[in-house]
Amino acid sequence: MAADHPLDPAAPADAPDAVAVDLPASTISIRRARPAELDDAGAVVRRAYEADGHGGDYLDVVADARDRSRDADIIVALGEGNQVLGCVTFVLPGTRWAELSRPGEAEFRMLGVDPGAQGRGVGRALTEWCIGRARALGACRLLLSSLPSMTPAHHLYQRLGFRHRPDLDFSPGPGVQLLGFALDLPGDRPLLVRTPGARP
Ligand SMILES: CC(C)(COP(=O)(O)OP(=O)(O)OC[C@H]1O[C@@H](n2cnc3c(N)ncnc32)[C@H](O)[C@@H]1OP(=O)(O)O)[C@@H](O)C(=O)NCCC(=O)NCCS
Repeated sequence: MAADHPLDPAAPADAPDAVAVDLPASTISIRRARPAELDDAGAVVRRAYEADGHGGDYLDVVADARDRSRDADIIVALGEGNQVLGCVTFVLPGTRWAELSRPGEAEFRMLGVDPGAQGRGVGRALTEWCIGRARALGACRLLLSSLPSMTPAHHLYQRLGFRHRPDLDFSPGPGVQLLGFALDLPGDRPLLVRTPGARP
């Protein structure tokens, strides 16, 4: 993670080591992926996208969590045997993986839960981790983009307070349209740095 990001400079550079989350049927932990876990993390996201009907070269991109880890936080949900159940990429504005975020905002991308672990609250826990991290950084908004077909994900985001923002919809390439979602946050940390270019 870049040390000079435009969010709260008083926030710790690293996220907390691990957060335990009690799900109805088990306890998982959520933390930054260790280097030895990055390939499993990427493979989980690939399986999640494949099971959701996605194919093509983009699967290689979502599977390469090791590459993403150079410029973003790779966050994993681990089962009781420390197996990777899910993964999300937490992104700061102005970095390589940022698509929507502007100064003062944060973003997450490529959320995926292993098909065998879906429906147990793992995706929700990973999304809540991102919300907590964005709050801790003093972000005024947390953003993401999603394909129109990803309706289970949209349900999850809307349950957590995200709203579809048509003004954030965009096309990253020919024939691909993405929907933008945003969750407004208090953004009231006193050291939040708002720079030119910040969204009103
Ligand atoms: C979206 C995804 C991450 C959800 O993960 P998950 O661990 O199954 O989700 P959770 O168990 O935490 O469920 C969260 C909510 O979504 C709902 N949900 C989960 N899967 C669903 C499905 N297939 N259809 C409808 N709703 C679903 C749950 O019922 C829950 O809603 P509730 O709180 O109202 O009960 C997972 O389905 C996935 O990896 N999908 C493929 C990749 C993808 O679409 N990523 C999003 C990129 S923007």
